Amino acid sequence: MKHQILSQLSPEYPWKEQFHYFPTIDSTNDEAKRLAIAGAPHGTVILASHQTNGHGRMGRSFHSPSRQGIYLSILLRPNCAPAELMHLTCAAAVAMCDACEAATGLRPGIKWTNDLVHGKKKLGGILTAMGLTAAGRVDHCIIGIGINCNQSAQDFPPELRDMAGSLSMITGKEPDPSRVAAAMMDALHQMDARLLTEKEAILTQYRRDCITLGKEIRLVRGTEARLGTALDIDAEGALVVRYTSGETEIVNSGEVSIRGMYGYL
Ligand code: BTN
Repeated sequence: MKHQILSQLSPEYPWKEQFHYFPTIDSTNDEAKRLAIAGAPHGTVILASHQTNGHGRMGRSFHSPSRQGIYLSILLRPNCAPAELMHLTCAAAVAMCDACEAATGLRPGIKWTNDLVHGKKKLGGILTAMGLTAAGRVDHCIIGIGINCNQSAQDFPPELRDMAGSLSMITGKEPDPSRVAAAMMDALHQMDARLLTEKEAILTQYRRDCITLGKEIRLVRGTEARLGTALDIDAEGALVVRYTSGETEIVNSGEVSIRGMYGYL
């Protein structure tokens, strides 16, 4: 797998020496964190064919069966303040749409902020984390991505079956996981090159890919649930929501469900 991926990377890809492949690992994000603490350089990539303890947002687990998905984390060390990276998850999501499109011809949509979707099905997710220096600058950030590649419906546990999909279920063809992985790595390299300098262009593309805009949504934060409409993505990647009360809010956190998706009817 490692050599198949390396041989499909573009000639400009600069981080081939910092690529770590594991047939099985607990979590590529956890390994990226361990490597970050050990001083691993910018551009370190950890990729696994199977995770025994994959994490998702909100403390959930991420179903990571062997050889059916791609589980990848990248460690970046941008020289900036954390406030300059508010759009990091959005940038990674756009990069993953680019990668899926390059590898399979299918460009997924993005459900704000971090779900890759097609129709009503989730194809993958993104989990970002950041570590700071004592002076409050960014020491490292970790972008973890899981993409469902070759699952069929019965490969998902019953509780995920209605909402989960894979690239092969949607395109009708089994993608070559090493081709998808190489496209993800190339897209992340390109994302890194423009992350701090082309924020507006990245968010313009994010708005095009984001299926949440214009939809009726439900925002759940703690025990509070509010209904509204998703109006826009602001200049930092936050969701602008108008509630049914008429009040408008810029939403950075919480669980946003789209009416008609993932069991919200
Ligand atoms: C989500 O959908 O809530 C985010 C899922 C992120 C999963 C990826 S798989 C690779 C990396 N390692 C992890 O433990 N999580 C991320």
